[in-house]
Amino acid sequence: MTTAKPGVKHFLQFKDFTRAEFEYLFERTHWIKEQFKSYKKHWPLIDRTLVMIFEKASTRTRLSFEAGMQQLGGAAIYLNTRDSQLGRGERVEDAAQVISRMSDLIMIRTFEQGIVERLAANSRVPVINGLTNEYHPCQILADIYTYIEQRGPIQGKTVAWIGDSNNVCNTWLQAAEVLDFHVHVSTPPGYEVEVERAGLYGTDNFEQFADPMAAAKDADIVSTDVWTSMGFEAENAERLRDFAEWQVDAEMMRVARPDALFMHCLPAHRGEEVSAEVFDGPQSVVWDEAENRLHVQKALMEYLILGKVDQ
Ligand code: CP
Ligand code: NVA
Repeated sequence: MTTAKPGVKHFLQFKDFTRAEFEYLFERTHWIKEQFKSYKKHWPLIDRTLVMIFEKASTRTRLSFEAGMQQLGGAAIYLNTRDSQLGRGERVEDAAQVISRMSDLIMIRTFEQGIVERLAANSRVPVINGLTNEYHPCQILADIYTYIEQRGPIQGKTVAWIGDSNNVCNTWLQAAEVLDFHVHVSTPPGYEVEVERAGLYGTDNFEQFADPMAAAKDADIVSTDVWTSMGFEAENAERLRDFAEWQVDAEMMRVARPDALFMHCLPAHRGEEVSAEVFDGPQSVVWDEAENRLHVQKALMEYLILGKVDQ
């Protein structure tokens, strides 16, 4: 018998939330960030526990969830599959039953999206996707908040995605459908976006370009990511060759809008997917994106556990 609760809300991919929910989360993030910056306590999650399951490496995701939960008054427990029974073949469905009886919220970073879905289907408590092969919804939540904070509404804007059509790219594409903006994607041949894998309703919000310079032209955001994502290391040498022409450099930033922002989820490889000049340059907001993971995820955790709250 499953003990999953039908009404429980999860954040497994970007399109799980409506535009109205994101508008609430962005407003709430602003307030939560202000409280934090002015050293004011905000402890709505006293006695609540977050369990974080990691099957892949992480710096930002672990830190931002763990620090965020503590700053909200709760506690966070770190489980690595290598040293938990999950790494010895315990079914994710069984782990979900047990973990969700002992906690109020679960965050998981793993391989296939199906694993996260099986976890959620057997959990009594909300589940957050902290990155899968297919999606990275918390990253795009932070990236869009960063854009809004620095430039205003994202509706109608254009994001140029240069490089691999990976989990971060797929999430930008879903976000474009929910929040009504455009994504211009340029990948090397053979690495194009797969509409079904990206979980899109259609192709109205994105366009694929063979030429990365054409994709970057007049963009409001130019974004990229590593050429080899976690789990694909065996393809590294081939990818280094295939992606060589898809580096975001100063020439590419010059064809984007003059006020365009450069974004990268991190970790980055200067000299591969982005030149050091752009990465460390004035249009780069990579450290703000990383910091905003903390603030948006605090709003997200509060929302998933308590629902909408007034101040
Ligand atoms: N961007 C991001 O998710 O970073 P980590 O892999 O360090 O968590
Ligand atoms: N696409 C990268 C993102 C890391 C945060 C990966 O999946 O490894």
